[in-house]
Amino acid sequence: MQDAYYGTLLREYHNIPFAKGCCTEIGTETVTFRLTNRDRTPDELSTFKILGPGMIILKNYLSLKDQVDIVKLCDKMTFGLRGYYMYKSDVDCRRQMCFGRNWAPETRYKNRYMSNGMEPLPIPDELISLAEAAIQDAQIHLDELPSMRPDTCLANFYQSEGRLGLHQDDDESPDSLERGLPVVSISIGDMAEFVYGHTPDKKELKSVMLKSGDVLIFGGKSRLIYHGVTQIYLYTSPEPLIEDSGLRPGRLSLTLRQF
Ligand code: SIN
Ligand code: MN
Repeated sequence: MQDAYYGTLLREYHNIPFAKGCCTEIGTETVTFRLTNRDRTPDELSTFKILGPGMIILKNYLSLKDQVDIVKLCDKMTFGLRGYYMYKSDVDCRRQMCFGRNWAPETRYKNRYMSNGMEPLPIPDELISLAEAAIQDAQIHLDELPSMRPDTCLANFYQSEGRLGLHQDDDESPDSLERGLPVVSISIGDMAEFVYGHTPDKKELKSVMLKSGDVLIFGGKSRLIYHGVTQIYLYTSPEPLIEDSGLRPGRLSLTLRQF
């Protein structure tokens, strides 16, 4: 069941209700952000933890500026009719939209158009480079993690009740799945508990906290792990992120894949 959501990620950014049927032009101003560890103080440096074969978390991978720029970029790109849609079921509660290629829970990759009738906008180049850079950094520590060039990006925004039921990402092409082309998940805003395991057995699941600026990658032998988001810890966003971006309470996640 879907409700259109024509708002913005930002607080009090635009309080004029958006008229259905009208479409705001997306501005031409470019948002650029720098990648990885340049210009960081030592306590801001990124660390990593290997979570399994082909699975790694790059902690604090994105600088604050990167995070702010991504929030602003996403907010600009999701404006208007191309905005988020609510997905609510027994196991899911999140707003979603796509870049690049459309994917929806009911129709998978079959519909070219999103529920609002629009084609997804292209994935911003900055996000493609970011995913590629994160994979290259992960490959230094992980054997057998293939490279990939994302052609689909799912943006999820989770608020107070936000969650995502246990599932596998298995809708991509047989070639992509067989080669174990990695999924790259970027977290911004409030912290979330992410659970994962090689079987759906709840007793066997492990969990990891995803914090703002973390990048989680799973490919190779972990490409088809079961995973889900069980809880969002509201009001845990870094204060400077809120101050500089105005992101409302919740977690923005961007999941990039190659179909
Ligand atoms: C997903 O599994 O598609 C998204 C996971 C996340 O929100 O981190
Ligand atoms: Mn998934």
